[in-house]
Amino acid sequence: MGVSSEELRIGVLGSGTGSNCEAILQACERGQIPGRVVVVVSDIADALILERARKRGIPAHFVGPSRFKTKLEPELEQRIVDILREKGVELVALAGYMRVVKTPLLSSFAGKMLNVHPSLLPSFPGLHAWEQALTYGVRVTGCTVHFVNEGVDAGPVILQQAVPVQAGDTPATLHQRIQIAEHALLPEAIRLFALRKLQVTGRQVKILE
Ligand code: GRF
Repeated sequence: MGVSSEELRIGVLGSGTGSNCEAILQACERGQIPGRVVVVVSDIADALILERARKRGIPAHFVGPSRFKTKLEPELEQRIVDILREKGVELVALAGYMRVVKTPLLSSFAGKMLNVHPSLLPSFPGLHAWEQALTYGVRVTGCTVHFVNEGVDAGPVILQQAVPVQAGDTPATLHQRIQIAEHALLPEAIRLFALRKLQVTGRQVKILE
């Protein structure tokens, strides 16, 4: 199936099960997002996210291994840039991508890269944000979709959704509840981007009517 010129060409990067990628794929399929996932890239060779793409006939690439844990070598990032460029990607969605994006990947897609994070930023950036929230003892946490900049989980906020912490929550039950919210929030942010409704000025993201 071809990609019409009005459809946003989306590249997804992820390291894990890809439930957020699945939410994007389904939102594209039902026409909620005027776009299409044209390629999926993972830093984990056997990540389920790659399987989900392949099942749909979407090109899926493993780019690695790396000698670093939290970032990729510039040469590996350049390989990702080449893959995304080759597919004409206009928006990169980080959907559970567990590495900090550096040069050249970030600079190649400046202003065109979104991330979903499982907390209400700027609270609890970094790893295991739901566990951080439980340990801290907050009553409300949630998820954030933001533009990606040089910082860790630090770019301009696009959308946030609050999720209450319930008595008896374990890290697993809280993360599960946050993920349900993520699966609605990330596709909605991509929809707004695709419709050119996001106007960024400094840290402020205005959502146009
Ligand atoms: C999500 O909770 C996301 O916020 C975090 O990693 C998780 C990825 O889950 N960065 P999945 O791979 O989309 O299922």
